[in-house]
Amino acid sequence: MTVPAQNGIPPPAKLQDRSKLIPFSPRLEEGRALAEDVWSIFNAANLPDDCINLGQGYMNFGPPKWVTAAANEALQAVGPNHYSHPKGRPRLRQAIKDFYEPSFGRELDINSEILVTSGANEGCYSVFVAFLDHGDEVIMFEPFFDQYLPSVTFNGGKPVYVPLHPPTNVDKPTSKDWTIDFDELRRAITPRTKMIIINTPHNPVGKVFTKQELEKIAVIAEEHNLLVMADEVYDCLVFDDNEHVRFATLPGMWDRTVTAMSAGKAFSATGWRVGWLVGPPSIIMPTLAASTRIVFCTNSPLQEAVAAGLEQAKTRGFFEQQTKEYLERRATIVSAFDKLGIKYTQPEGAYFIMLDISGIKIPDNYPFPASLNGRGRDFKACWFMATHEDIKVSTIPVSEFYCDEHCNIGENYVRVSFCKDNDTMKAAGERFQGLKKFLTL
Ligand SMILES: Cc1ncc(COP(=O)(O)O)c(C=O)c1O
Repeated sequence: MTVPAQNGIPPPAKLQDRSKLIPFSPRLEEGRALAEDVWSIFNAANLPDDCINLGQGYMNFGPPKWVTAAANEALQAVGPNHYSHPKGRPRLRQAIKDFYEPSFGRELDINSEILVTSGANEGCYSVFVAFLDHGDEVIMFEPFFDQYLPSVTFNGGKPVYVPLHPPTNVDKPTSKDWTIDFDELRRAITPRTKMIIINTPHNPVGKVFTKQELEKIAVIAEEHNLLVMADEVYDCLVFDDNEHVRFATLPGMWDRTVTAMSAGKAFSATGWRVGWLVGPPSIIMPTLAASTRIVFCTNSPLQEAVAAGLEQAKTRGFFEQQTKEYLERRATIVSAFDKLGIKYTQPEGAYFIMLDISGIKIPDNYPFPASLNGRGRDFKACWFMATHEDIKVSTIPVSEFYCDEHCNIGENYVRVSFCKDNDTMKAAGERFQGLKKFLTL
């Protein structure tokens, strides 16, 4: 309650409304930073206790034992319990160099071309801090990873959205059927365009951008002198005979590309907050200046553990085995969708499936919480599936990953994560059969 001033004399401080004493920065008004996001609405705390969580993209299993053993070992030593170099621990930078040089097709300098960050997210944020000026435009394909948006606007950037177009009239779509309209991409470019974000393999579509698609983007990037953020955090999860092409390896693209990667995805350690950037010194060094001011350095013991992971991954055949396990999980859940007769997009990479909910008839009188007012049909479908007695599987509404203008595209889909063990995927597949009586198509 606010006590009014009397005769111009303010009330004693203890009687003033102190709940909003200090105004926060207007930057929080942008980029949906204050909006209640999907992660809060579809948080396990709001859902039935026995709901199976295929919503947020984290695993229900831990990192490999030989990686956690290296973390334990690091915790017992003195050095790794203290600050690391802001560029990252030398052992991890060396491991990144050794592991990734073949796929980048070049030698990497551990002093100026590799930067360890607190997750890929902080790495991307630091790139925005280092390179964006007020009014600079950043092109992102929709659906987009939701962190990009506030990270761009906090740094004065202006997001410009280009949708991936969903499959139409395709009987059994794959993520290849989500396409870029290159004329639309070209029309999105203005003299203020500074940067383009490419996420391949893509969250949530699962699309692995083809070499031809990336080459066309490369021509545009060269023509308009764009900085390219290649978000390749799911590079270790590419399925079937699809090829992950690193954007930085296309002719001429090294000098304008920063590639973001994540130990969270690579080693099932999303809470460790270890990631890294690879790029030319002209991008890495300014980003280091930003990152040093934001976090100073990334947590030391887990950098050691990730280094051990990369050092041993090849000889242990770790990524091959991990991919096999994800393929099994994908097969389990898509066979449940096939049995149910619902449409979905078969992903070529990452660990998400776009489930087409356009054929689900939600009962008219179904109760929804106030937090869903004004949200798209996909929010309602997610709530319905997460709470209906016969289903109880949580997923994430895809319209959240579109701008307001394009959110009608996302409203037909929910994102199903398959980064849970196969038994959980089987149980979820059985629960999804409860949808049968609500399908109209
Ligand atoms: C496309 C994409 N980029 C970046 C990140 C962030 O990765 P990290 O957990 O390493 O910050 C994620 C995490 O979900 C993601 O899906």
